Amino acid sequence: MKNKKNYTSLRPSTKCIHAGGPEDPWRALTPPLYQTSTFTFQDFDQVDRVLKGEEDGFVYGRMGNPTTDRFEKLVSELEEGEKTRSFASGMGAISAILIHLAKKHPEIAFPKVLYGGTRAFIEQYLIPSGCLIHWFDPREEGWDEELSRRLSPDTGAIFAETPSNPVMTVIDLEKLSSVAKKVGAPLVVDNTFATPILQKPLVLGADIVVHSATKYLGGHGDLLGGTVTGKASLIDRLSFEEGSYLGATLSPFNAWLLLRGMKTLPLRMDAHCRGAMMVAEFLSGHPGVKSVHYPGLSKDPGHKIASSQMKGFGGMLSFSLGDDQRARRVASGLELFKIAVSLGDPESLIEHPASLSHRQMTAEERMALGIDPGFLRVSVGLEDPEDLVLDLKRALER
Ligand SMILES: Cc1ncc(COP(=O)(O)O)c(C=O)c1O
Repeated sequence: MKNKKNYTSLRPSTKCIHAGGPEDPWRALTPPLYQTSTFTFQDFDQVDRVLKGEEDGFVYGRMGNPTTDRFEKLVSELEEGEKTRSFASGMGAISAILIHLAKKHPEIAFPKVLYGGTRAFIEQYLIPSGCLIHWFDPREEGWDEELSRRLSPDTGAIFAETPSNPVMTVIDLEKLSSVAKKVGAPLVVDNTFATPILQKPLVLGADIVVHSATKYLGGHGDLLGGTVTGKASLIDRLSFEEGSYLGATLSPFNAWLLLRGMKTLPLRMDAHCRGAMMVAEFLSGHPGVKSVHYPGLSKDPGHKIASSQMKGFGGMLSFSLGDDQRARRVASGLELFKIAVSLGDPESLIEHPASLSHRQMTAEERMALGIDPGFLRVSVGLEDPEDLVLDLKRALER
Protein backbone atom coordinates (compact mmCIF):
# COMPACT_ATOMS: atom_id res chain seq x y z
CA MET A 1 0.00 0.00 0.00
CA LYS A 2 1.29 3.44 -0.84
CA ASN A 3 1.45 6.10 1.83
CA LYS A 4 -0.92 8.77 0.59
CA LYS A 5 -0.42 11.27 3.44
CA ASN A 6 2.04 14.14 3.17
CA TYR A 7 4.24 14.32 6.26
CA THR A 8 6.92 16.59 4.80
CA SER A 9 5.80 19.76 6.58
CA LEU A 10 5.80 18.09 10.02
CA ARG A 11 8.58 18.65 12.55
CA PRO A 12 10.95 15.72 13.29
CA SER A 13 9.36 14.68 16.63
CA THR A 14 5.93 14.51 14.99
CA LYS A 15 7.34 12.66 11.97
CA CYS A 16 8.91 10.06 14.27
CA ILE A 17 5.47 9.26 15.69
CA HIS A 18 3.29 9.55 12.58
CA ALA A 19 5.29 9.37 9.33
CA GLY A 20 5.68 6.14 7.41
CA GLY A 21 1.96 5.28 7.08
CA PRO A 22 -0.36 4.01 5.79
CA GLU A 23 -3.08 3.56 8.41
CA ASP A 24 -3.55 -0.08 9.34
CA PRO A 25 -6.76 -1.44 7.74
CA TRP A 26 -7.78 -2.63 11.28
CA ARG A 27 -6.88 0.77 12.75
CA ALA A 28 -4.24 -0.72 15.08
CA LEU A 29 -2.41 2.06 16.90
CA THR A 30 1.05 0.52 16.45
CA PRO A 31 2.24 -0.56 12.99
CA PRO A 32 1.56 -4.22 12.20
CA LEU A 33 4.45 -6.65 11.82
CA TYR A 34 4.24 -8.51 8.49
CA GLN A 35 6.46 -11.44 9.44
CA THR A 36 6.27 -13.22 6.11
CA SER A 37 8.78 -14.31 3.49
CA THR A 38 6.45 -14.05 0.47
CA PHE A 39 3.13 -12.61 -0.73
CA THR A 40 0.26 -14.30 -2.58
CA PHE A 41 -1.74 -13.27 -5.68
CA GLN A 42 -5.33 -13.89 -6.78
CA ASP A 43 -4.22 -14.61 -10.35
CA PHE A 44 -1.51 -13.72 -12.89
CA ASP A 45 -3.30 -10.55 -13.96
CA GLN A 46 -2.72 -9.29 -10.45
CA VAL A 47 0.94 -10.36 -10.70
CA ASP A 48 1.21 -8.21 -13.85
CA ARG A 49 -0.47 -5.21 -12.23
CA VAL A 50 1.77 -5.35 -9.14
CA LEU A 51 4.97 -5.83 -11.16
CA LYS A 52 4.02 -2.93 -13.46
CA GLY A 53 3.28 -0.72 -10.42
CA GLU A 54 -0.39 -0.35 -11.40
CA GLU A 55 -1.48 -1.88 -8.10
CA ASP A 56 0.11 -1.60 -4.65
CA GLY A 57 1.65 -4.85 -3.50
CA PHE A 58 4.70 -6.86 -2.54
CA VAL A 59 6.15 -9.95 -4.18
CA TYR A 60 8.92 -11.48 -2.07
CA GLY A 61 10.56 -10.45 1.20
CA ARG A 62 14.00 -9.79 -0.27
CA MET A 63 12.45 -7.15 -2.57
CA GLY A 64 10.20 -5.45 -0.03
CA ASN A 65 7.77 -5.87 2.85
CA PRO A 66 5.10 -3.51 4.26
CA THR A 67 6.83 -3.21 7.66
CA THR A 68 10.28 -2.47 6.20
CA ASP A 69 8.60 -0.14 3.67
CA ARG A 70 7.08 1.87 6.52
CA PHE A 71 10.49 2.14 8.22
CA GLU A 72 12.14 3.21 4.93
CA LYS A 73 9.51 5.93 4.41
CA LEU A 74 10.10 7.25 7.92
CA VAL A 75 13.88 7.47 7.32
CA SER A 76 13.27 9.29 3.99
CA GLU A 77 11.01 11.80 5.74
CA LEU A 78 13.58 12.46 8.47
CA GLU A 79 16.56 12.72 6.09
CA GLU A 80 14.52 14.77 3.59
CA GLY A 81 15.44 12.33 0.83
CA GLU A 82 13.28 10.89 -1.93
CA LYS A 83 13.64 7.20 -1.12
CA THR A 84 15.34 4.77 1.27
CA ARG A 85 16.39 1.13 1.00
CA SER A 86 16.98 -0.77 4.23
CA PHE A 87 19.63 -3.46 4.81
CA ALA A 88 20.45 -6.12 7.37
CA SER A 89 23.18 -3.97 8.99
CA GLY A 90 25.08 -0.73 8.51
CA MET A 91 27.81 -2.64 6.69
CA GLY A 92 25.13 -4.25 4.48
CA ALA A 93 24.06 -0.72 3.48
CA ILE A 94 27.59 0.70 3.05
CA SER A 95 28.90 -2.27 1.05
CA ALA A 96 25.81 -2.30 -1.21
CA ILE A 97 26.00 1.41 -2.14
CA LEU A 98 29.78 1.35 -2.60
CA ILE A 99 29.61 -1.74 -4.83
CA HIS A 100 26.80 -0.07 -6.78
CA LEU A 101 28.77 3.14 -7.35
CA ALA A 102 32.14 1.44 -7.96
CA LYS A 103 30.60 -0.81 -10.65
CA LYS A 104 30.42 2.15 -13.06
CA HIS A 105 33.37 4.22 -11.81
CA PRO A 106 35.86 2.19 -9.76
CA GLU A 107 37.50 5.24 -8.20
CA ILE A 108 36.36 6.46 -4.75
CA ALA A 109 37.68 9.04 -2.27
CA PHE A 110 37.61 8.31 1.48
CA PRO A 111 38.74 10.28 4.53
CA LYS A 112 41.48 8.66 6.59
CA VAL A 113 39.30 9.01 9.69
CA LEU A 114 36.66 6.35 9.20
CA TYR A 115 34.80 3.53 10.99
CA GLY A 116 37.03 0.43 11.04
CA GLY A 117 34.48 -1.81 9.27
CA THR A 118 34.24 0.59 6.31
CA ARG A 119 38.04 0.72 6.16
CA ALA A 120 38.22 -3.10 6.25
CA PHE A 121 35.65 -3.30 3.41
CA ILE A 122 37.82 -0.93 1.33
CA GLU A 123 40.98 -2.93 2.03
CA GLN A 124 39.50 -6.41 1.75
CA TYR A 125 36.96 -5.91 -1.03
CA LEU A 126 37.21 -2.64 -2.98
CA ILE A 127 40.99 -2.58 -3.47
CA PRO A 128 41.30 -6.30 -4.41
CA SER A 129 38.38 -5.73 -6.88
CA GLY A 130 40.45 -3.09 -8.67
CA CYS A 131 38.86 0.07 -7.25
CA LEU A 132 41.27 3.01 -7.04
CA ILE A 133 41.13 4.66 -3.60
CA HIS A 134 41.99 8.30 -2.93
CA TRP A 135 42.57 8.87 0.80
CA PHE A 136 42.24 12.43 2.09
CA ASP A 137 42.82 13.90 5.53
CA PRO A 138 40.14 16.44 6.55
CA ARG A 139 42.31 17.42 9.55
CA GLU A 140 44.90 19.04 7.25
CA GLU A 141 44.79 22.66 6.12
CA GLY A 142 43.59 23.03 2.49
CA TRP A 143 42.40 19.37 2.24
CA ASP A 144 39.49 20.35 0.00
CA GLU A 145 41.61 22.10 -2.63
CA GLU A 146 44.11 19.26 -2.62
CA LEU A 147 41.26 16.74 -3.06
CA SER A 148 39.72 18.71 -5.95
CA ARG A 149 43.11 18.71 -7.70
CA ARG A 150 43.60 14.95 -7.23
CA LEU A 151 40.20 13.64 -8.33
CA SER A 152 39.44 12.84 -11.96
CA PRO A 153 36.06 13.19 -13.71
CA ASP A 154 35.87 9.36 -13.47
CA THR A 155 35.48 9.45 -9.69
CA GLY A 156 32.58 7.17 -8.69
CA ALA A 157 31.93 8.74 -5.28
CA ILE A 158 33.30 10.70 -2.36
CA PHE A 159 32.51 9.09 0.99
CA ALA A 160 32.60 10.77 4.40
CA GLU A 161 31.62 10.12 7.97
CA THR A 162 31.03 13.02 10.36
CA PRO A 163 31.58 13.12 13.27
CA SER A 164 33.96 10.27 12.61
CA ASN A 165 34.40 7.06 14.55
CA PRO A 166 36.33 7.00 16.91
CA VAL A 167 38.34 10.26 16.78
CA MET A 168 35.32 12.61 16.44
CA THR A 169 36.70 14.59 13.47
CA VAL A 170 34.06 16.92 12.05
CA ILE A 171 34.09 17.29 8.26
CA ASP A 172 32.70 20.44 6.65
CA LEU A 173 29.96 18.94 4.47
CA GLU A 174 29.28 22.06 2.42
CA LYS A 175 32.99 22.23 1.51
CA LEU A 176 33.06 18.53 0.66
CA SER A 177 29.89 18.78 -1.42
CA SER A 178 31.41 21.59 -3.47
CA VAL A 179 34.42 19.33 -4.21
CA ALA A 180 31.98 16.54 -5.21
CA LYS A 181 30.07 18.90 -7.50
CA LYS A 182 33.30 20.14 -9.11
CA VAL A 183 34.32 16.59 -10.06
CA GLY A 184 30.74 15.46 -10.77
CA ALA A 185 30.80 12.62 -8.21
CA PRO A 186 28.03 11.78 -5.73
CA LEU A 187 28.81 12.55 -2.08
CA VAL A 188 27.88 9.70 0.29
CA VAL A 189 27.69 10.56 4.02
CA ASP A 190 27.55 8.14 6.93
CA ASN A 191 25.22 9.96 9.35
CA THR A 192 25.25 7.27 12.07
CA PHE A 193 26.78 9.38 14.85
CA ALA A 194 24.59 12.45 14.28
CA THR A 195 21.26 10.96 13.11
CA PRO A 196 18.86 13.12 11.05
CA ILE A 197 17.75 14.77 14.29
CA LEU A 198 21.12 16.53 14.60
CA GLN A 199 22.40 16.70 11.01
CA LYS A 200 20.86 16.52 7.53
CA PRO A 201 23.61 15.76 5.01
CA LEU A 202 21.23 15.92 2.00
CA VAL A 203 20.23 19.46 2.94
CA LEU A 204 23.95 20.34 3.28
CA GLY A 205 24.68 19.17 -0.28
CA ALA A 206 25.25 15.40 -0.04
CA ASP A 207 23.58 13.05 -2.54
CA ILE A 208 23.31 9.87 -0.48
CA VAL A 209 23.05 9.22 3.27
CA VAL A 210 23.82 5.91 4.96
CA HIS A 211 23.15 4.74 8.49
CA SER A 212 23.99 1.96 10.82
CA ALA A 213 20.41 1.78 12.12
CA THR A 214 21.80 -0.61 14.75
CA LYS A 215 22.85 2.47 16.70
CA TYR A 216 20.72 5.53 17.54
CA LEU A 217 17.85 4.81 15.11
CA GLY A 218 17.09 1.51 16.85
CA GLY A 219 18.38 2.97 20.09
CA HIS A 220 17.93 -0.06 22.35
CA GLY A 221 20.87 -2.33 21.50
CA ASP A 222 18.59 -5.15 20.33
CA LEU A 223 18.91 -5.24 16.52
CA LEU A 224 21.16 -4.80 13.48
CA GLY A 225 20.03 -2.68 10.53
CA GLY A 226 21.21 -0.20 7.90
CA THR A 227 19.82 2.29 5.39
CA VAL A 228 20.72 4.13 2.19
CA THR A 229 18.72 7.27 1.27
CA GLY A 230 18.91 9.29 -1.94
CA LYS A 231 17.19 10.07 -5.26
CA ALA A 232 14.37 7.60 -6.08
CA SER A 233 15.99 6.58 -9.40
CA LEU A 234 19.24 5.60 -7.65
CA ILE A 235 17.51 3.80 -4.75
CA ASP A 236 15.30 1.86 -7.20
CA ARG A 237 18.39 0.64 -9.07
CA LEU A 238 20.22 -0.14 -5.81
CA SER A 239 17.19 -2.07 -4.49
CA PHE A 240 16.85 -4.07 -7.66
CA GLU A 241 20.55 -4.85 -8.01
CA GLU A 242 22.58 -4.99 -4.75
CA GLY A 243 19.50 -4.81 -2.46
CA SER A 244 17.86 -7.89 -3.90
CA TYR A 245 20.81 -9.90 -5.15
CA LEU A 246 23.43 -9.43 -2.44
CA GLY A 247 20.57 -10.36 -0.14
CA ALA A 248 21.43 -8.33 2.99
CA THR A 249 17.74 -7.64 3.61
CA LEU A 250 16.47 -6.05 6.83
CA SER A 251 14.13 -8.48 8.60
CA PRO A 252 10.52 -7.30 9.11
CA PHE A 253 10.88 -7.85 12.86
CA ASN A 254 13.93 -5.58 13.01
CA ALA A 255 12.06 -2.96 10.93
CA TRP A 256 9.22 -3.20 13.45
CA LEU A 257 11.65 -2.73 16.36
CA LEU A 258 13.18 0.23 14.50
CA LEU A 259 9.76 1.86 14.06
CA ARG A 260 9.15 1.39 17.78
CA GLY A 261 12.58 2.74 18.74
CA MET A 262 12.39 5.75 16.43
CA LYS A 263 9.28 7.13 18.12
CA THR A 264 11.59 8.39 20.88
CA LEU A 265 14.62 9.26 18.71
CA PRO A 266 14.40 13.08 19.18
CA LEU A 267 13.93 12.71 22.96
CA ARG A 268 16.81 10.26 23.20
CA MET A 269 19.16 12.41 21.09
CA ASP A 270 18.43 15.39 23.28
CA ALA A 271 19.31 13.38 26.42
CA HIS A 272 22.42 11.81 24.78
CA CYS A 273 23.66 15.32 23.84
CA ARG A 274 23.10 16.71 27.34
CA GLY A 275 24.79 13.71 28.98
CA ALA A 276 27.79 13.77 26.61
CA MET A 277 28.31 17.49 27.20
CA MET A 278 28.41 16.99 30.97
CA VAL A 279 30.77 14.02 30.69
CA ALA A 280 33.05 15.90 28.23
CA GLU A 281 33.19 18.96 30.48
CA PHE A 282 34.04 16.83 33.51
CA LEU A 283 36.77 14.94 31.64
CA SER A 284 38.31 18.07 30.14
CA GLY A 285 38.62 19.60 33.63
CA HIS A 286 40.22 16.48 35.16
CA PRO A 287 44.01 16.65 35.66
CA GLY A 288 44.43 12.90 34.92
CA VAL A 289 42.92 13.20 31.42
CA LYS A 290 45.35 13.99 28.60
CA SER A 291 42.86 15.04 25.90
CA VAL A 292 39.10 15.02 25.21
CA HIS A 293 37.53 14.86 21.73
CA TYR A 294 33.96 16.18 21.68
CA PRO A 295 32.75 18.77 19.14
CA GLY A 296 30.55 20.34 21.83
CA LEU A 297 33.61 21.67 23.68
CA SER A 298 34.46 25.19 22.48
CA LYS A 299 38.19 24.33 22.26
CA ASP A 300 37.54 21.27 20.04
CA PRO A 301 38.89 21.74 16.47
CA GLY A 302 35.49 20.63 15.06
CA HIS A 303 33.40 22.94 17.26
CA LYS A 304 32.92 25.76 14.76
CA ILE A 305 31.84 23.56 11.84
CA ALA A 306 29.73 21.31 14.08
CA SER A 307 27.95 24.39 15.46
CA SER A 308 26.98 25.44 11.95
CA GLN A 309 26.04 22.05 10.44
CA MET A 310 24.65 20.18 13.48
CA LYS A 311 21.73 20.93 15.81
CA GLY A 312 23.50 19.25 18.73
CA PHE A 313 26.86 17.59 19.24
CA GLY A 314 25.70 14.02 19.82
CA GLY A 315 26.33 11.37 22.42
CA MET A 316 29.77 10.13 21.33
CA LEU A 317 33.12 11.29 22.65
CA SER A 318 36.63 10.00 23.12
CA PHE A 319 39.43 10.81 25.51
CA SER A 320 42.97 9.76 26.25
CA LEU A 321 44.57 8.79 29.53
CA GLY A 322 48.03 8.69 27.97
CA ASP A 323 49.01 5.09 28.51
CA ASP A 324 47.51 1.74 27.65
CA GLN A 325 47.55 0.17 31.15
CA ARG A 326 45.87 3.17 32.75
CA ALA A 327 43.17 3.25 30.03
CA ARG A 328 42.40 -0.46 30.53
CA ARG A 329 42.41 -0.09 34.32
CA VAL A 330 40.08 2.93 34.38
CA ALA A 331 37.64 1.41 31.85
CA SER A 332 37.56 -1.86 33.82
CA GLY A 333 36.98 0.05 37.05
CA LEU A 334 33.76 1.68 35.82
CA GLU A 335 30.47 0.33 37.10
CA LEU A 336 27.82 2.04 34.97
CA PHE A 337 29.76 2.20 31.68
CA LYS A 338 29.88 -1.27 30.13
CA ILE A 339 32.89 -2.42 28.12
CA ALA A 340 31.45 -3.04 24.65
CA VAL A 341 31.66 -2.00 21.01
CA SER A 342 28.52 -0.47 19.40
CA LEU A 343 26.90 2.79 20.48
CA GLY A 344 23.66 4.70 20.70
CA ASP A 345 22.13 2.47 23.36
CA PRO A 346 20.42 3.50 26.64
CA GLU A 347 23.41 2.00 28.50
CA SER A 348 26.68 3.98 28.47
CA LEU A 349 29.40 2.00 26.70
CA ILE A 350 33.17 2.36 26.74
CA GLU A 351 35.80 0.75 24.57
CA HIS A 352 39.57 0.82 24.19
CA PRO A 353 40.22 0.81 20.41
CA ALA A 354 43.79 -0.51 20.84
CA SER A 355 42.41 -3.65 22.57
CA LEU A 356 39.06 -4.02 20.81
CA SER A 357 37.80 -2.22 17.68
CA HIS A 358 41.21 -1.29 16.17
CA ARG A 359 43.37 -4.13 17.52
CA GLN A 360 44.11 -5.39 13.96
CA MET A 361 46.00 -2.17 13.19
CA THR A 362 49.59 -1.57 14.17
CA ALA A 363 50.29 1.02 16.90
CA GLU A 364 51.78 3.28 14.16
CA GLU A 365 48.64 3.02 12.03
CA ARG A 366 46.50 3.88 15.06
CA MET A 367 48.73 6.83 15.98
CA ALA A 368 48.40 8.20 12.43
CA LEU A 369 44.63 8.32 13.00
CA GLY A 370 45.04 10.02 16.38
CA ILE A 371 44.38 6.88 18.46
CA ASP A 372 47.13 6.79 21.08
CA PRO A 373 47.54 3.80 23.46
CA GLY A 374 45.51 5.48 26.21
CA PHE A 375 42.58 6.37 23.92
CA LEU A 376 39.05 5.40 25.05
CA ARG A 377 35.78 5.82 23.12
CA VAL A 378 32.55 6.46 24.99
CA SER A 379 28.91 6.25 23.96
CA VAL A 380 27.06 8.25 26.60
CA GLY A 381 23.76 6.54 27.36
CA LEU A 382 20.54 7.72 28.90
CA GLU A 383 21.47 7.38 32.57
CA ASP A 384 21.50 10.51 34.75
CA PRO A 385 24.73 12.27 33.65
CA GLU A 386 25.57 13.10 37.28
CA ASP A 387 25.77 9.38 38.05
CA LEU A 388 27.97 8.87 35.00
CA VAL A 389 30.32 11.66 36.07
CA LEU A 390 30.55 10.16 39.59
CA ASP A 391 31.32 6.73 38.11
CA LEU A 392 34.14 8.24 35.98
CA LYS A 393 35.46 10.28 38.90
CA ARG A 394 35.70 7.19 41.12
CA ALA A 395 37.37 5.10 38.41
CA LEU A 396 39.89 7.85 37.58
CA GLU A 397 40.82 8.36 41.21
CA ARG A 398 40.90 4.70 42.21
C1 LIG B 1 29.87 5.13 11.81
C2 LIG B 1 29.51 3.69 11.58
N1 LIG B 1 29.10 3.31 10.35
C3 LIG B 1 28.77 2.03 10.08
C4 LIG B 1 28.84 1.06 11.06
C5 LIG B 1 28.50 -0.38 10.71
O1 LIG B 1 27.23 -0.68 11.18
P1 LIG B 1 26.73 -2.18 11.55
O2 LIG B 1 27.50 -2.59 12.74
O3 LIG B 1 25.26 -1.98 11.78
O4 LIG B 1 27.01 -3.02 10.36
C6 LIG B 1 29.25 1.41 12.35
C7 LIG B 1 29.36 0.38 13.40
O5 LIG B 1 29.86 0.63 14.48
C8 LIG B 1 29.60 2.76 12.62
O6 LIG B 1 30.03 3.16 13.83
